[in-house]
Amino acid sequence: MPNFQTPLSFISDNCAGASSEVMQALLSCNSGSANPYGSDDLTMGIETKLAELFEHEVSVFLVSTGTAANSICLATLSPPWGSVYCHAQSHINNDECAAPEFFSQGAKLVSVPGIAAKIDAQELAAAVSRRVGDIHSTQPGCVSITQATELGTLYTVSEIAEIGEVCQSANIGLHMDGSRFANAVATLGCSPAQMTWKAGVKALSFGASKNGVLGAEAIVLFDQSLAQEIAFRRKRAGHLTSKMRFLSAQMDAYLKDDLWLANAHQSNLMAQRLSEGLGRHELIEILEPPQANILFCRFPLWLTQRLLDQGCSFLHDRWEEGVVRLVTSFATTDFEVDLFLQRVQAALNEA
Ligand SMILES: Cc1ncc(COP(=O)(O)O)c(C=O)c1O
Repeated sequence: MPNFQTPLSFISDNCAGASSEVMQALLSCNSGSANPYGSDDLTMGIETKLAELFEHEVSVFLVSTGTAANSICLATLSPPWGSVYCHAQSHINNDECAAPEFFSQGAKLVSVPGIAAKIDAQELAAAVSRRVGDIHSTQPGCVSITQATELGTLYTVSEIAEIGEVCQSANIGLHMDGSRFANAVATLGCSPAQMTWKAGVKALSFGASKNGVLGAEAIVLFDQSLAQEIAFRRKRAGHLTSKMRFLSAQMDAYLKDDLWLANAHQSNLMAQRLSEGLGRHELIEILEPPQANILFCRFPLWLTQRLLDQGCSFLHDRWEEGVVRLVTSFATTDFEVDLFLQRVQAALNEA
């Protein structure tokens, strides 16, 4: 008999706690004093560690939210009269309350079509050449792609490189919203370098909070010429944390022994397990095979209601009727996935 007592949450990877290694690192850095505002040893060490990981000289700026990381990057890459090309389904377009527009003092988000929440490079090439030089129109500012996407899909390395080439010929920067960067690397099996600067990415929002960190994200710049401007922008945005060592300790633990990658593997594995289990039922449609840790499916409405009534939680009322989103995290276990699948099976048996 399925157990209906345990609450099961697939709402978001933001619902998970933090890895024990991260919590331990926070405790360990708590003793003694450290220089404030990022001039402590721990913070300075992060830049070296990320430079090693990315096999490139980098400038790193820690902030406490992904929205801040994205907005600060975009404001730096685009002038106020610029177009920030992005996909219509992107987080910057739908879920940041116009923070990119606010921080950039008015840059315009321009959506570029493409399947599976990915910008199509040819559509982008057409978009960046529209109305260039026309004083009545915003001008090419920068491009922002999300990897992994909001739909749980991935750009291949060569798709990123194609977009990078369009950016290069239009002389604009490429930003990557890597809120789920680790999930993408875990699936593609490529190096962080291949997925970023080698493919033309100039600025990365390196996410960590969704994947085991309590609250820290890193802006990683591959273009050093932007570093000074970003430093001032971060301060003005209120993200130059005085006790920066606490953010750095989290990031340090996240990078140590590839915790970031191990966590992402677990998270992706759980999404696969969920997808395989749900895909066995005729009444359930898997809308996109999950490449990361997000799974979109279509459930009969009564099934969604039955699962919600039994204490399962997931997003279900934001899209077309019947579409549900299930998100796994590093903390999701086989047990939880199997329990959810049992509840689905039991509901379908009763129908
Ligand atoms: C694709 C993507 N980018 C960025 C973010 C960062 O958001 P926050 O400002 O809530 O940390 C999220 C969080 O849901 C996201 O899904």
